[in-house]
Amino acid sequence: MKSGLEDVVAAETVLSDVDGKNGRLIVRGVSLDDLVAGSRYEDVLELLFDGFFAGAAPLAAQLGAARVEVFAHLASADAALLRLPPVEAMRALLARVGDGDDLASALRLVAAPAVFTAGLLRLKDGRAPLAPDPALSHAADTLRMVTGSMPSAQQVAALDRYLVTVADHGLNASTFAARVVASTQAGLTSSVLAALSALKGPLHGGAPGPVLDMLDAAGSPASAPAWLEGALANGERLMGFGHRVYRVRDPRADALKGAVRGLASSGAIDPARLALAEAVEAAALDLLKRKKPDRPLDTNVEFYTALLLEALGFPREAFTCVFAMGRVGGWIAHAREQALDGRLIRPMSIYVGPRADVAA
Ligand code: ACO
Repeated sequence: MKSGLEDVVAAETVLSDVDGKNGRLIVRGVSLDDLVAGSRYEDVLELLFDGFFAGAAPLAAQLGAARVEVFAHLASADAALLRLPPVEAMRALLARVGDGDDLASALRLVAAPAVFTAGLLRLKDGRAPLAPDPALSHAADTLRMVTGSMPSAQQVAALDRYLVTVADHGLNASTFAARVVASTQAGLTSSVLAALSALKGPLHGGAPGPVLDMLDAAGSPASAPAWLEGALANGERLMGFGHRVYRVRDPRADALKGAVRGLASSGAIDPARLALAEAVEAAALDLLKRKKPDRPLDTNVEFYTALLLEALGFPREAFTCVFAMGRVGGWIAHAREQALDGRLIRPMSIYVGPRADVAA
């Protein structure tokens, strides 16, 4: 068997293609470069949902209405829920959104991570959640609900670029979880809950918060190489590096680095923070090349995600929630594709324990 199902093909999809050898990502026939050039998250949703739901584009107004609809669930957030980490509190609220396999149900599930995360962050700070404004784009409204002020066009473009970049990515662990659940015909909400549970681990979507912890610990460009060497010698993984499929640089890293540079040029990112990140990246790549020569390890999507989301005002403990805001579109499209065309996913295992029928 292949440990971790590495290289195992487990689905056919029309949704996205991850070319790990050449570092390319295609979403429904569109390259990542073309996708991030000016697309809003709503545009990518239309692309992903096309053919999977009756009634579709344009989705912006329907998504705005869905944000308004799910906002009411924040009233049920009690003290016990607010003590949970944001991603777990968001998951608990998501379970209340209701189920259905139509477009309206799907859009409520897309709206929920943004509305719940923004509301929960404010409630945790003792402030009232801000109601959604359905007239705004999804990215603009999300930033407004989190920060309490209208974002600049550049901030909106940066969040759109992030959400578009992470919207779908082949059969990653969370999408596979979504497809497994969808294959039992359990419905969209259960598929999204399973996917979110898989996403939150540090080997998948839980990495960008720890990337910032790593930058903080590395301290300065001068001290970074020694700190990284020590961390690797202690058996730690360098967060934001390595990937199961990419054997070259993750193309999403550069899509996001472009947005980070844009924010830095407008003063939204401290140049010293960017210089530290670039120094840590260079030192980590050099170190990984020397210490892990058999495994090509390069920068993945999470490294510049961390800087981008920090600059947009998201607290690091909520980064996984923001990842879910984007990836939820892909989860839903994959769940629909699986439920409509696929069979029950039920692989085999090899039993390696003792056998009662074999005499000692
Ligand atoms: N730092 C140090 N060593 C690493 C790293 C890393 N970031 N990534 C892989 N390695 C090493 C492993 O220690 C192992 O070395 P060994 O054979 O000497 O023991 C070798 O590379 C292979 O590692 P695996 O765990 O088998 O590789 P896998 O494909 O399972 O891992 C993963 C992929 C989980 C992303 C890994 O690279 C990692 O842990 N990265 C850090 C966490 C991270 O950035 N996660 C976000 C991924 S992107 C996403 O999910 C959206």
